[in-house]
Amino acid sequence: MRIVEEKAAPASRISWENILTSLEDGVILIDRHGKISFFSQAAEILTDLPASHALHQDYTAAFGKTPWLVEMVQKSEPPHQTGSRGEGDLARQRGRPVPVSLTVSPLQDRYGRFLGSILLVRDLTHRKELEEDLQRADRLALLGTLAAGLAHEIKNPLGGIKGAAQLLKREVNRNPSLLQYADIMIREVDRVNLLIEQLLDLSRPAKLNLDALNIHELLDEVLLLEREAVVDWNVVVKKNFDPSLPPIRGDRAQLTQVFLNLVKNALQAMKGRGSLTVTTRMETDFHIREQGKERGKFIWVDIEDDGAGIREEDLPHIFSPFFSTKNNGTGLGLAICYRIIKEHGGLIRVESREGAGASFKVSLLVAE
Ligand SMILES: Nc1ncnc2c1ncn2[C@@H]1O[C@H](COP(=O)(O)OP(=O)(O)OP(=O)(O)O)[C@@H](O)[C@H]1O
Ligand SMILES: [Mg+2]
Repeated sequence: MRIVEEKAAPASRISWENILTSLEDGVILIDRHGKISFFSQAAEILTDLPASHALHQDYTAAFGKTPWLVEMVQKSEPPHQTGSRGEGDLARQRGRPVPVSLTVSPLQDRYGRFLGSILLVRDLTHRKELEEDLQRADRLALLGTLAAGLAHEIKNPLGGIKGAAQLLKREVNRNPSLLQYADIMIREVDRVNLLIEQLLDLSRPAKLNLDALNIHELLDEVLLLEREAVVDWNVVVKKNFDPSLPPIRGDRAQLTQVFLNLVKNALQAMKGRGSLTVTTRMETDFHIREQGKERGKFIWVDIEDDGAGIREEDLPHIFSPFFSTKNNGTGLGLAICYRIIKEHGGLIRVESREGAGASFKVSLLVAE
């Protein structure tokens, strides 16, 4: 018997192709006739275009839906032969475009003759998300300071009004129509008080009672609570739970509030008929895992409805306090969800197609 030992390839045997394929950025080579001659695996994933389709295709055809990319490649060709960098949205074969950064360099031989162009494409999705997240956190912090000051100023006079209304009620209790006015005053004061309490909740750092929780139990409870509210609705609830998920680390009461808000919103968006799908899954995305390396593993919960969806222009605002498109909404639901998930070290995201429904995705840390 002969045992052949596998040895690591010496540096000289590592091909350029190996190197280019191993890069996390997408690498695309275009020859001097404008045909794609190399298309790395990362480029395939980014564009959702298999290399077998891309290779030998004219780049103007392959990237016809991304004209800014075509223009940058043209700059790298004769007579200019200049390299450039840019950022923009890259159209994909299917689904939404992805934000990317692109570097295009002309490829020349040692006499400066043009051989083609080399493109390096980097996915900016997660960077963009982190940036937006930071901006949102800043806005919330500002609001928190404002709210705390304002609440302090408002609560005292409100207390006075309520006390006076209660006294009034006692005085006028022989006149039912006047009694009704006093009741309205008291009820409205209570409403403002509740609103202020919610606003204060949003600005105070909450004390989390962290426990190892079974996320499926928690979601079942939420669904049960909400099902009561919509017994005579025509809503189908689908549970798509991954039974192998480990327990997560979280505050039961606060997370219940998060999922209640999300499920409520979904049901409201469906206006009495539709299907609500709740999915749980383990995180598998490489990029997120890299960024959250020290934070351990996490899971996702997706709450998906097929209701009205969210208008494109509303998307940037839905997590802001007081943004609501509903007649009787306070607009605090999602702001509270955002704060709670943030304090849990998780993420909350939304995907939505106007008219076709919305999907809210929440990531939570796995208990150690
Ligand atoms: N599942 C969803 N489908 C469509 N639109 C949604 C969905 N979830 C949230 N929205 C939009 O985001 C807005 C903000 O939601 P949020 O929960 O913060 O406030 P609200 O539901 O309007 O009021 P509240 O939660 O205080 O009753 C909503 O008014 C709605 O326009
Ligand atoms: Mg809501």
